[in-house]
Amino acid sequence: MIPTSTPIKLNFSNKPLAAAEAVAIFASTKELLQADLLASAERAAGLRLLSSGVFKGKANEVTFDLVDGGKGKLRRVFVVGVGPADKATSESYRQAAGALAKAIRKHKLAAITVSVPDGRVEEIATGLMLASFNYTEYKGTASKKKSDDADAKPPTITIVSAGAKSKASFERAVAIASGQNFARTIASRPGNNINPPSLAKVAQQMAKEVGLGCRVLDEKQMAKLGMGGILAVGAANKTTPPRMIVLEWKGTRKSAKPLLAVGKAITFDTGGISIKPAASMGRMIYDKCGGMAVLGFMLAVAKLKLAQPVVGILTSAENHISDTAFRPGDILRMYNGVTVEVTNTDAEGRLVLGDALAWGIEQYKPSAVVDLATLTGGVVVALGKTMAGVMANNDSLVADLQLAADLAGEKFWRLPLGDDQRDLMKSDHADLVNSGAREAHPLQGGAFLSYFVPENLPWAHLDIAGVADTEKELPYYGKGATGWGVRTLVEWASKHA
Ligand code: BES
Ligand code: MN
Ligand code: ZN
Repeated sequence: MIPTSTPIKLNFSNKPLAAAEAVAIFASTKELLQADLLASAERAAGLRLLSSGVFKGKANEVTFDLVDGGKGKLRRVFVVGVGPADKATSESYRQAAGALAKAIRKHKLAAITVSVPDGRVEEIATGLMLASFNYTEYKGTASKKKSDDADAKPPTITIVSAGAKSKASFERAVAIASGQNFARTIASRPGNNINPPSLAKVAQQMAKEVGLGCRVLDEKQMAKLGMGGILAVGAANKTTPPRMIVLEWKGTRKSAKPLLAVGKAITFDTGGISIKPAASMGRMIYDKCGGMAVLGFMLAVAKLKLAQPVVGILTSAENHISDTAFRPGDILRMYNGVTVEVTNTDAEGRLVLGDALAWGIEQYKPSAVVDLATLTGGVVVALGKTMAGVMANNDSLVADLQLAADLAGEKFWRLPLGDDQRDLMKSDHADLVNSGAREAHPLQGGAFLSYFVPENLPWAHLDIAGVADTEKELPYYGKGATGWGVRTLVEWASKHA
């Protein structure tokens, strides 16, 4: 079983159903959308809410009224706003569905039928699944409430849409959102559960279930290969040493070169000897989220059976402190022969990524590479918590990713990468330092990585430090890991299929 922490039963029907305990309908500021899938009493209730002004159809507004459900029962009719019809985008529908999912939870509904406007099945199914994510693997008896909801069953949510492509859209949404919620589940597991070897087991198990190839390099194999970066970062951990975890999707276009996605999977980042401050260090369980995005992406790729071959690499170590830890001042030799003077053991992400990029590119000869990493606090200072930063050596790859991110409803902003930035990484004692002077920290991260990618190979680096997890509730994400990047990667790879 692939854990997705999504306690709902989501179904699809293309015919109007005998209504459940509750029904939901979407509405703009002016009208109900696709009301013809509802019985007349429910349609009338929706219209009454809208025309009376009790419900205004504003984005993410949810309210309900009661109608006679027969047999002496009352049925709830929910209306969910998407805002003015001419301004409603895909993201409006994802967010509105997120608001509906919250209402379903609050009302403790057992079953609800959701009438979905034509062409919006994918967004609404996605929003319902993402907003229903609830990580409870460590919720024990102490957090169970005594009364009714202790044994609450997952609600059955049935999406109803008559459109010809609706069924396929529904299945695509479920595949992708399952990948994302799987990524969030593993991301949520703390450092005493997920370490490089246990993460490798999770990936192997998933790969077996969905038909992906999986290779895991252990520390001995990586030593033979000369991967001085990842080995140095993981050197403190004698019982949980680093792992290079590779997931392979062969696809059906056998002649095509694969796409390669590489994710930073630091299962916990103490900062190493250059230790982080204690306040909020616990958030560093999310330092594996680049790798988690790749993990969820690969699950979705397999479920969607993409024609395009794809390879995903999770480059995994724990950055800890012990007598075997690497130190400031150490000089490392990376897989591609580049030497690195360690100026700060907390700039560890680029070290595990450098080896993974150089080795992965050599092994798999991809047509393009994207890496994702919670690489710098600086990107959060620069761009905040709504956008990732992207740095790249190729404009058309950035354009492709922009199209993918727009479809996915994820946002990033381009940052510069050129000789000015690459020069910041030069060392007096080795080829590079892993952390330069105070200026331009997010740019230094990308510039460092560029030394591990051939100049003529399209490559983009996504710094997701600000978006990988959230400390406040968002329209379809609760607090915690977001799984940012899974949807953008899937849209990107789908365009090649
Ligand atoms: N994992 C951190 C980056 C990070 C910070 C992610 C905050 C999420 C929230 C990374 O390994 C790190 O420590 N980066 C340093 C780099 C510096 C030492 C060059 C940073 O950004 O401070
Ligand atoms: Mn760090
Ligand atoms: Zn880190």
